[in-house]
Amino acid sequence: MPIDIETLQRKSGILGQSEQIQEVLQTIAQIAPTDISVLVTGESGTGKEMVAKAIHKNSRRKFEPLVTVNCGAIPAGIIESELFGHKKGSFTGANETRKGYFEAAHKGTIFLDEIGETPLETQVKLLRVIETGEFMKVGDTTTRRVDVRLVAATNQDLGAETRKGNFRQDLYYRLKTITIEVPALRGHPEDIPLLVERFGLEFATRNDLSFRGFTSEAIRLLKAYEWPGNVRELKNVVESVLTLNPGERLTPEMLATQIQVAGHHAGSRLPVVVNIPPEQSDRELVLRQLLYIRQDLSDVKQLIAGTEINRQIDPYLPSPVPVLPGDQSGLAPQQDITSLEQRPLIDPEAVGEITIEELERDFIQQTLIKFNHNRRRSAEALGIAERTLYRKIQAYGLDKK
Ligand SMILES: Nc1ncnc2c1ncn2[C@@H]1O[C@H](COP(=O)(O)OP(=O)(O)O)[C@@H](O)[C@H]1O
Ligand SMILES: [Mg+2]
Repeated sequence: MPIDIETLQRKSGILGQSEQIQEVLQTIAQIAPTDISVLVTGESGTGKEMVAKAIHKNSRRKFEPLVTVNCGAIPAGIIESELFGHKKGSFTGANETRKGYFEAAHKGTIFLDEIGETPLETQVKLLRVIETGEFMKVGDTTTRRVDVRLVAATNQDLGAETRKGNFRQDLYYRLKTITIEVPALRGHPEDIPLLVERFGLEFATRNDLSFRGFTSEAIRLLKAYEWPGNVRELKNVVESVLTLNPGERLTPEMLATQIQVAGHHAGSRLPVVVNIPPEQSDRELVLRQLLYIRQDLSDVKQLIAGTEINRQIDPYLPSPVPVLPGDQSGLAPQQDITSLEQRPLIDPEAVGEITIEELERDFIQQTLIKFNHNRRRSAEALGIAERTLYRKIQAYGLDKK
Protein backbone atom coordinates (compact mmCIF):
# COMPACT_ATOMS: atom_id res chain seq x y z
CA MET A 1 0.00 0.00 0.00
CA PRO A 2 1.56 3.33 -0.97
CA ILE A 3 2.27 5.75 1.86
CA ASP A 4 0.09 8.84 1.95
CA ILE A 5 2.29 11.96 2.06
CA GLU A 6 -0.08 13.97 4.23
CA THR A 7 -0.28 11.23 6.84
CA LEU A 8 3.48 10.79 6.71
CA GLN A 9 3.95 14.52 7.25
CA ARG A 10 1.51 14.68 10.15
CA LYS A 11 2.91 11.65 11.92
CA SER A 12 6.58 12.49 11.40
CA GLY A 13 6.12 16.13 12.39
CA ILE A 14 8.31 17.22 9.47
CA LEU A 15 6.84 20.61 8.65
CA GLY A 16 7.07 22.41 5.32
CA GLN A 17 5.04 23.04 2.18
CA SER A 18 8.04 24.05 0.04
CA GLU A 19 8.98 21.95 -2.93
CA GLN A 20 12.23 20.90 -1.22
CA ILE A 21 10.53 19.55 1.91
CA GLN A 22 7.75 17.88 -0.12
CA GLU A 23 10.45 16.18 -2.17
CA VAL A 24 12.12 14.89 1.00
CA LEU A 25 8.75 13.47 2.11
CA GLN A 26 8.18 11.87 -1.30
CA THR A 27 11.54 10.12 -1.11
CA ILE A 28 10.89 8.91 2.43
CA ALA A 29 7.55 7.47 1.27
CA GLN A 30 9.24 5.66 -1.62
CA ILE A 31 12.16 4.13 0.21
CA ALA A 32 10.85 3.58 3.75
CA PRO A 33 9.08 0.26 3.04
CA THR A 34 12.22 -1.26 1.45
CA ASP A 35 15.32 -2.55 3.26
CA ILE A 36 17.73 -0.41 1.29
CA SER A 37 20.43 1.60 3.12
CA VAL A 38 19.90 5.34 3.12
CA LEU A 39 22.26 8.28 3.48
CA VAL A 40 20.71 11.47 4.88
CA THR A 41 22.77 14.59 4.25
CA GLY A 42 22.29 18.18 5.35
CA GLU A 43 23.61 20.84 7.67
CA SER A 44 23.21 20.57 11.41
CA GLY A 45 19.65 21.30 12.58
CA THR A 46 17.94 20.63 9.26
CA GLY A 47 15.97 17.63 10.55
CA LYS A 48 18.10 14.63 9.55
CA GLU A 49 17.21 12.72 12.68
CA MET A 50 13.51 13.37 12.07
CA VAL A 51 13.96 11.89 8.58
CA ALA A 52 15.67 8.80 10.01
CA LYS A 53 12.83 8.27 12.49
CA ALA A 54 10.23 8.74 9.76
CA ILE A 55 11.93 6.10 7.62
CA HIS A 56 11.91 3.61 10.48
CA LYS A 57 8.34 4.37 11.51
CA ASN A 58 7.11 3.81 7.97
CA SER A 59 8.97 0.58 7.40
CA ARG A 60 7.89 -2.96 8.13
CA ARG A 61 10.39 -2.80 11.00
CA LYS A 62 8.43 -0.13 12.86
CA PHE A 63 7.61 -2.33 15.84
CA GLU A 64 11.24 -3.37 16.20
CA PRO A 65 13.94 -1.15 17.73
CA LEU A 66 15.42 1.96 16.17
CA VAL A 67 18.89 2.29 17.65
CA THR A 68 20.49 5.73 17.32
CA VAL A 69 24.26 6.01 17.50
CA ASN A 70 26.05 9.32 17.39
CA CYS A 71 29.34 8.15 15.87
CA GLY A 72 30.94 11.55 16.44
CA ALA A 73 30.43 11.29 20.19
CA ILE A 74 32.09 7.89 20.68
CA PRO A 75 35.87 7.87 21.15
CA ALA A 76 37.67 6.03 18.32
CA GLY A 77 39.17 3.54 20.78
CA ILE A 78 35.85 2.04 21.83
CA ILE A 79 33.66 2.56 18.79
CA GLU A 80 34.00 -1.02 17.54
CA SER A 81 33.12 -2.57 20.85
CA GLU A 82 30.16 -0.18 21.07
CA LEU A 83 28.93 -1.06 17.59
CA PHE A 84 29.67 -4.77 17.49
CA GLY A 85 30.07 -5.71 21.16
CA HIS A 86 32.98 -7.50 22.75
CA LYS A 87 33.82 -10.84 24.30
CA LYS A 88 34.55 -11.20 27.96
CA GLY A 89 38.27 -10.70 28.57
CA SER A 90 38.98 -9.21 25.15
CA PHE A 91 40.60 -6.20 26.79
CA THR A 92 41.27 -4.87 30.28
CA GLY A 93 37.96 -4.04 31.87
CA ALA A 94 35.90 -6.25 29.55
CA ASN A 95 34.47 -8.24 32.45
CA GLU A 96 31.34 -9.32 30.67
CA THR A 97 30.46 -10.21 27.13
CA ARG A 98 28.69 -7.18 25.77
CA LYS A 99 26.09 -6.72 23.06
CA GLY A 100 26.80 -4.04 20.51
CA TYR A 101 24.37 -1.61 18.92
CA PHE A 102 24.01 -3.77 15.81
CA GLU A 103 22.81 -6.71 17.88
CA ALA A 104 20.50 -4.43 19.84
CA ALA A 105 19.00 -3.30 16.53
CA HIS A 106 18.39 -6.87 15.26
CA LYS A 107 15.28 -6.96 13.03
CA GLY A 108 15.04 -3.18 13.37
CA THR A 109 16.94 -0.15 12.12
CA ILE A 110 20.26 1.35 13.15
CA PHE A 111 20.73 5.09 12.69
CA LEU A 112 24.40 6.01 12.44
CA ASP A 113 24.53 9.75 12.91
CA GLU A 114 27.69 11.60 11.84
CA ILE A 115 28.96 8.54 10.00
CA GLY A 116 31.76 10.67 8.52
CA GLU A 117 33.37 10.61 11.97
CA THR A 118 33.98 6.85 12.07
CA PRO A 119 37.62 5.72 11.80
CA LEU A 120 38.70 4.10 8.52
CA GLU A 121 39.26 0.67 10.15
CA THR A 122 35.71 0.68 11.44
CA GLN A 123 34.36 1.64 8.03
CA VAL A 124 35.55 -1.69 6.57
CA LYS A 125 33.50 -3.52 9.19
CA LEU A 126 30.49 -1.34 8.59
CA LEU A 127 30.61 -2.14 4.88
CA ARG A 128 30.72 -5.85 5.67
CA VAL A 129 27.78 -5.79 8.04
CA ILE A 130 25.69 -3.73 5.59
CA GLU A 131 26.47 -6.03 2.67
CA THR A 132 26.27 -9.43 4.34
CA GLY A 133 24.82 -8.86 7.80
CA GLU A 134 28.00 -10.42 9.20
CA PHE A 135 30.15 -9.05 12.00
CA MET A 136 32.48 -10.17 14.74
CA LYS A 137 32.54 -9.03 18.35
CA VAL A 138 35.82 -7.49 19.49
CA GLY A 139 38.06 -10.32 20.72
CA ASP A 140 35.89 -13.00 19.13
CA THR A 141 36.69 -15.47 16.39
CA THR A 142 33.21 -16.50 15.33
CA THR A 143 31.20 -14.58 12.79
CA ARG A 144 27.69 -13.58 13.81
CA ARG A 145 24.75 -12.39 11.75
CA VAL A 146 22.19 -9.68 12.22
CA ASP A 147 19.24 -8.43 10.21
CA VAL A 148 19.52 -4.65 10.42
CA ARG A 149 18.50 -1.83 8.13
CA LEU A 150 20.97 1.06 8.01
CA VAL A 151 20.18 4.74 7.90
CA ALA A 152 23.25 6.98 8.08
CA ALA A 153 23.53 10.74 8.33
CA THR A 154 26.27 13.28 7.83
CA ASN A 155 26.69 17.02 7.67
CA GLN A 156 29.98 16.60 5.82
CA ASP A 157 30.60 16.42 2.12
CA LEU A 158 31.41 12.70 2.06
CA GLY A 159 32.46 12.86 -1.61
CA ALA A 160 35.15 15.39 -0.70
CA GLU A 161 36.15 13.36 2.37
CA THR A 162 36.55 10.31 0.13
CA ARG A 163 38.83 12.22 -2.23
CA LYS A 164 40.89 13.37 0.76
CA GLY A 165 41.23 9.77 1.93
CA ASN A 166 39.23 10.31 5.12
CA PHE A 167 36.35 8.12 4.06
CA ARG A 168 36.43 4.77 2.26
CA GLN A 169 35.28 4.94 -1.32
CA ASP A 170 33.57 1.52 -1.28
CA LEU A 171 31.47 2.44 1.75
CA TYR A 172 30.67 5.83 0.23
CA TYR A 173 29.43 4.27 -3.02
CA ARG A 174 27.42 1.74 -1.10
CA LEU A 175 25.72 4.44 0.99
CA LYS A 176 25.14 7.14 -1.57
CA THR A 177 22.87 5.10 -3.87
CA ILE A 178 19.90 6.45 -1.97
CA THR A 179 20.66 9.90 -0.65
CA ILE A 180 18.13 12.21 0.95
CA GLU A 181 19.40 15.77 0.89
CA VAL A 182 17.67 17.74 3.61
CA PRO A 183 17.73 21.39 2.55
CA ALA A 184 19.26 24.19 4.64
CA LEU A 185 16.56 26.49 6.00
CA ARG A 186 17.88 29.47 3.99
CA GLY A 187 17.05 27.44 0.87
CA HIS A 188 13.31 27.29 1.67
CA PRO A 189 12.46 30.52 3.52
CA GLU A 190 8.85 30.26 2.30
CA ASP A 191 8.31 27.62 5.03
CA ILE A 192 9.32 30.03 7.80
CA PRO A 193 5.86 31.52 8.49
CA LEU A 194 4.39 28.05 8.93
CA LEU A 195 7.30 26.86 11.09
CA VAL A 196 7.24 29.83 13.47
CA GLU A 197 3.49 29.64 13.78
CA ARG A 198 3.64 25.98 14.76
CA PHE A 199 6.65 26.32 17.08
CA GLY A 200 5.09 29.37 18.74
CA LEU A 201 1.77 27.65 19.33
CA GLU A 202 3.33 24.46 20.63
CA PHE A 203 5.64 26.27 23.01
CA ALA A 204 2.90 28.61 24.21
CA THR A 205 0.56 25.69 24.91
CA ARG A 206 3.20 23.74 26.77
CA ASN A 207 4.18 26.69 28.91
CA ASP A 208 0.85 28.36 29.40
CA LEU A 209 1.87 31.51 27.57
CA SER A 210 -0.17 33.41 25.07
CA PHE A 211 1.16 33.66 21.52
CA ARG A 212 -0.08 36.39 19.22
CA GLY A 213 2.19 35.82 16.25
CA PHE A 214 4.88 37.88 14.53
CA THR A 215 4.48 41.21 12.74
CA SER A 216 4.99 41.08 8.99
CA GLU A 217 8.28 42.99 9.40
CA ALA A 218 9.46 40.34 11.85
CA ILE A 219 8.55 37.58 9.39
CA ARG A 220 10.46 39.43 6.69
CA LEU A 221 13.50 39.60 8.96
CA LEU A 222 13.23 35.90 9.81
CA LYS A 223 13.09 35.08 6.11
CA ALA A 224 16.17 37.16 5.34
CA TYR A 225 18.33 35.71 8.09
CA GLU A 226 20.97 33.10 7.21
CA TRP A 227 20.02 30.49 9.86
CA PRO A 228 23.40 28.77 10.29
CA GLY A 229 21.72 26.50 12.87
CA ASN A 230 18.74 25.86 10.58
CA VAL A 231 15.33 24.76 11.94
CA ARG A 232 16.83 23.92 15.34
CA GLU A 233 18.00 27.53 15.67
CA LEU A 234 14.68 28.91 14.40
CA LYS A 235 12.79 26.89 16.98
CA ASN A 236 15.06 28.16 19.74
CA VAL A 237 14.69 31.76 18.63
CA VAL A 238 10.90 31.48 18.57
CA GLU A 239 10.87 29.97 22.05
CA SER A 240 13.26 32.55 23.53
CA VAL A 241 11.54 35.57 22.03
CA LEU A 242 8.15 34.28 23.10
CA THR A 243 9.35 33.64 26.64
CA LEU A 244 10.72 37.16 26.86
CA ASN A 245 7.63 38.82 25.35
CA PRO A 246 4.61 36.69 26.20
CA GLY A 247 1.24 37.93 24.96
CA GLU A 248 2.77 40.47 22.57
CA ARG A 249 2.93 40.67 18.79
CA LEU A 250 6.58 39.86 18.13
CA THR A 251 8.59 42.55 16.34
CA PRO A 252 12.01 42.79 14.63
CA GLU A 253 13.29 44.71 17.65
CA MET A 254 12.47 41.80 19.93
CA LEU A 255 14.24 39.47 17.54
CA ALA A 256 17.33 41.64 17.35
CA THR A 257 18.71 40.29 20.62
CA GLN A 258 18.14 36.71 19.48
CA ILE A 259 19.60 36.71 16.00
CA GLN A 260 22.86 38.49 15.42
CA VAL A 261 21.95 40.81 12.64
CA ALA A 262 24.43 43.18 11.12
CA GLY A 263 23.03 46.30 9.52
CA HIS A 264 19.39 45.43 9.96
CA HIS A 265 16.77 48.15 9.87
CA ALA A 266 13.08 47.40 10.13
CA GLY A 267 11.41 46.87 6.79
CA SER A 268 14.65 46.15 5.00
CA ARG A 269 14.51 43.39 2.44
CA LEU A 270 18.26 43.19 2.14
CA PRO A 271 19.79 39.84 2.95
CA VAL A 272 21.37 39.89 6.33
CA VAL A 273 25.08 39.48 6.88
CA VAL A 274 25.90 37.08 9.64
CA ASN A 275 29.34 37.05 11.12
CA ILE A 276 29.22 34.20 13.59
CA PRO A 277 30.92 30.95 12.59
CA PRO A 278 28.66 27.85 12.77
CA GLU A 279 30.60 26.30 15.70
CA GLN A 280 29.99 29.38 17.80
CA SER A 281 26.33 29.49 16.95
CA ASP A 282 26.03 25.79 17.84
CA ARG A 283 27.64 26.59 21.15
CA GLU A 284 25.18 29.37 21.77
CA LEU A 285 22.28 27.07 20.98
CA VAL A 286 23.56 24.52 23.46
CA LEU A 287 23.99 27.19 26.10
CA ARG A 288 20.52 28.52 25.51
CA GLN A 289 19.13 25.00 25.84
CA LEU A 290 21.02 24.51 29.09
CA LEU A 291 19.50 27.72 30.32
CA TYR A 292 16.03 26.32 29.60
CA ILE A 293 16.79 23.11 31.40
CA ARG A 294 18.06 25.04 34.36
CA GLN A 295 14.89 27.09 34.40
CA ASP A 296 12.75 23.97 34.15
CA LEU A 297 14.63 22.53 37.09
CA SER A 298 14.03 25.58 39.20
CA ASP A 299 10.35 25.49 38.19
CA VAL A 300 10.18 21.92 39.42
CA LYS A 301 11.90 22.89 42.66
CA GLN A 302 9.42 25.69 43.18
CA LEU A 303 6.55 23.34 42.43
CA ILE A 304 7.82 20.99 45.08
CA ALA A 305 8.17 23.88 47.49
CA GLY A 306 4.58 24.80 46.66
CA THR A 307 5.42 28.30 45.53
CA GLU A 308 4.10 29.98 42.44
CA ILE A 309 6.17 29.90 39.31
CA ASN A 310 7.48 33.16 38.12
CA ARG A 311 9.30 32.59 34.90
CA GLN A 312 11.82 35.23 33.95
CA ILE A 313 14.66 34.71 31.59
CA ASP A 314 17.59 37.02 31.34
CA PRO A 315 19.29 36.44 27.99
CA TYR A 316 22.40 38.18 29.22
CA LEU A 317 22.93 35.90 32.17
CA PRO A 318 26.56 34.88 32.40
CA SER A 319 27.09 31.37 31.11
CA PRO A 320 25.65 29.26 33.92
CA VAL A 321 27.55 26.10 33.17
CA PRO A 322 31.18 25.42 32.42
CA VAL A 323 31.67 24.68 28.74
CA LEU A 324 33.86 21.69 28.10
CA PRO A 325 35.83 21.50 24.90
CA GLY A 326 34.52 18.79 22.59
CA ASP A 327 31.31 17.61 24.14
CA GLN A 328 29.79 20.90 25.11
CA SER A 329 26.52 19.58 26.31
CA GLY A 330 27.92 17.16 28.87
CA LEU A 331 24.94 14.91 28.09
CA ALA A 332 24.93 11.32 26.96
CA PRO A 333 25.49 11.08 23.20
CA GLN A 334 22.09 9.72 22.31
CA GLN A 335 20.10 12.05 24.47
CA ASP A 336 18.22 14.63 22.46
CA ILE A 337 18.62 17.77 24.47
CA THR A 338 15.32 19.16 23.22
CA SER A 339 13.30 16.33 24.73
CA LEU A 340 14.35 17.42 28.21
CA GLU A 341 12.17 20.46 27.80
CA GLN A 342 8.99 18.44 27.80
CA ARG A 343 6.49 18.79 30.57
CA PRO A 344 5.48 15.70 32.56
CA LEU A 345 2.45 13.85 31.23
CA ILE A 346 1.15 13.16 34.70
CA ASP A 347 -0.03 15.84 37.04
CA PRO A 348 2.35 15.80 40.03
CA GLU A 349 -0.75 15.99 42.25
CA ALA A 350 -1.73 12.49 41.14
CA VAL A 351 1.54 10.93 42.26
CA GLY A 352 0.92 8.53 45.12
CA GLU A 353 -2.71 8.12 44.15
CA ILE A 354 -2.40 5.75 41.17
CA THR A 355 -0.33 2.74 40.29
CA ILE A 356 1.33 2.09 36.94
CA GLU A 357 -1.11 -0.77 36.38
CA GLU A 358 -4.15 1.42 36.89
CA LEU A 359 -2.65 4.05 34.67
CA GLU A 360 -1.88 1.55 31.92
CA ARG A 361 -5.29 -0.06 32.10
CA ASP A 362 -7.07 3.27 31.90
CA PHE A 363 -4.89 4.50 29.08
CA ILE A 364 -5.36 1.34 27.02
CA GLN A 365 -9.10 1.39 27.62
CA GLN A 366 -9.40 4.99 26.47
CA THR A 367 -7.28 4.31 23.40
CA LEU A 368 -9.45 1.32 22.49
CA ILE A 369 -12.58 3.44 22.82
CA LYS A 370 -11.09 6.21 20.71
CA PHE A 371 -10.20 3.80 17.92
CA ASN A 372 -13.47 1.89 18.13
CA HIS A 373 -11.69 -1.24 19.42
CA ASN A 374 -9.59 -1.43 16.26
CA ARG A 375 -6.57 -3.24 17.69
CA ARG A 376 -4.15 -2.45 14.91
CA ARG A 377 -4.74 1.29 15.16
CA SER A 378 -4.81 1.25 18.95
CA ALA A 379 -1.50 -0.61 19.13
CA GLU A 380 0.02 1.83 16.69
CA ALA A 381 -1.18 4.81 18.69
CA LEU A 382 0.19 3.27 21.90
CA GLY A 383 3.48 2.44 20.23
CA ILE A 384 3.33 -1.24 21.17
CA ALA A 385 3.07 -4.44 19.13
CA GLU A 386 -0.41 -5.71 18.39
CA ARG A 387 0.27 -8.99 20.19
CA THR A 388 1.40 -7.07 23.27
CA LEU A 389 -1.86 -5.12 23.20
CA TYR A 390 -3.77 -8.37 22.82
CA ARG A 391 -2.10 -9.78 25.92
CA LYS A 392 -2.84 -6.66 27.93
CA ILE A 393 -6.49 -6.66 26.85
CA GLN A 394 -6.75 -10.21 28.20
CA ALA A 395 -4.88 -9.38 31.38
CA TYR A 396 -6.97 -6.30 32.16
CA GLY A 397 -10.24 -7.82 31.00
CA LEU A 398 -10.78 -5.09 28.43
CA ASP A 399 -12.34 -7.33 25.83
CA LYS A 400 -15.34 -5.73 24.15
CA LYS A 401 -18.26 -7.82 25.32
N1 LIG B 1 11.06 20.29 8.90
C1 LIG B 1 10.96 20.36 10.24
N2 LIG B 1 9.76 20.48 10.83
C2 LIG B 1 9.65 20.55 12.18
N3 LIG B 1 10.69 20.53 13.03
C3 LIG B 1 11.91 20.41 12.50
C4 LIG B 1 12.12 20.32 11.08
N4 LIG B 1 13.45 20.20 10.87
C5 LIG B 1 14.04 20.22 12.07
N5 LIG B 1 13.13 20.35 13.07
C6 LIG B 1 13.42 20.44 14.51
O1 LIG B 1 14.73 20.96 14.62
C7 LIG B 1 15.46 20.25 15.61
C8 LIG B 1 16.66 19.59 14.99
O2 LIG B 1 16.25 18.49 14.19
P1 LIG B 1 17.18 17.20 13.98
O3 LIG B 1 16.40 16.18 13.26
O4 LIG B 1 17.80 16.80 15.28
O5 LIG B 1 18.30 17.84 13.03
P2 LIG B 1 19.73 17.28 12.60
O6 LIG B 1 19.77 15.82 12.98
O7 LIG B 1 19.79 17.50 11.11
O8 LIG B 1 20.73 18.10 13.32
C9 LIG B 1 14.49 19.28 16.25
O9 LIG B 1 13.94 19.92 17.38
C10 LIG B 1 13.44 19.08 15.20
O10 LIG B 1 12.22 18.80 15.80
MG1 LIG C 1 21.40 15.44 14.49
